[in-house]
Amino acid sequence: MVRSGFSRYLRFSVFLLLAPCLDAKAESVGVYSGRHYNSDKELYKLFTQRTGISVNLLEAKDDALIERLQAEGEKSNADVLVLVDAARLDRAANLGLFRAVKSPQLLQQVPSTYRDSRGRWFGLTRRVRAIIVNPKIVSPNSIRSYSDLANSNLKGKLCLRDRKSVYNQSLVADQLVSRGAAATTNWIKAMVANLAQPVFSSDTALIRAVAQGQCGAALVNTYYVARMTSGESGKEDQLLAKNIDLIMPIPAHVNISGAGITSSARNPEAAQKLIEFLASPTGGKGYAEANNEYPLKGYGGNPWLKRFGAFKSSGVSAETLGANNKRAVQLMENNDWK
Ligand SMILES: [Fe+2]
Repeated sequence: MVRSGFSRYLRFSVFLLLAPCLDAKAESVGVYSGRHYNSDKELYKLFTQRTGISVNLLEAKDDALIERLQAEGEKSNADVLVLVDAARLDRAANLGLFRAVKSPQLLQQVPSTYRDSRGRWFGLTRRVRAIIVNPKIVSPNSIRSYSDLANSNLKGKLCLRDRKSVYNQSLVADQLVSRGAAATTNWIKAMVANLAQPVFSSDTALIRAVAQGQCGAALVNTYYVARMTSGESGKEDQLLAKNIDLIMPIPAHVNISGAGITSSARNPEAAQKLIEFLASPTGGKGYAEANNEYPLKGYGGNPWLKRFGAFKSSGVSAETLGANNKRAVQLMENNDWK
């Protein structure tokens, strides 16, 4: 008796487990994401609540995801690929990993500067590469633009992240396009000559080093500073962040994180619905503002970003950043940006 009761229970449990699969309407979308924030997961939940489409998420480093998609080919479970940085989105597109999308909604929601002209990827959040200083070492009034980091009065005071950082590569691409090769070459040479110590491998380490007075000035993305200032990364970092000033460079280099539908997508309709949702104002709140990034339009309501004030973009499009990535890396290499 006990045994048959148990097997009835087992059969019922298996039915409960399989029930969603038996429902013809149950839909899902596979997402490979180079972003890794809890606020993203909350947003995917909201998408599921609104559409009934569940999100199967795989998070890993951007370059690993690009390689994985290439290796998986048609067998991939990814319908959507989310990547950080314009250069990576452009690279994935050139590798044939994205399919072109025709969506009036996306054309309207994503300004043309922040999307691929062939419709293969769309920006979803914006971040600025800003300048931070320790005012005890470097006067904030002495710096207004990226080119000021080349001033010889910063000798032994500047710290930089390494050349491998795609954030720096895109910044150099931005400078190449807006100021030309000669000016950008001189700028890199002078910054390298100003270095206080060997290059760093993370923005957070750079912020801490400036706060602790090991460096007087550095280049970092705005959301890392906001994360420390808000206390999100702990009390210690929050206290450290009080020692730095953020300077919004004029004009500012604006980069993106974004997404596209994979060429192997099995459910491109659901994928499109998800990207449209992420690009909507609701998506912007969860994806950008909750992670201390700027939405696609305006500045959003994040109080920590508000402290940094407005920025004026250099106007170099995300697609142009991607197209100039190789030239930028070459220039960095040739001029000893390690
Ligand atoms: Fe980052």
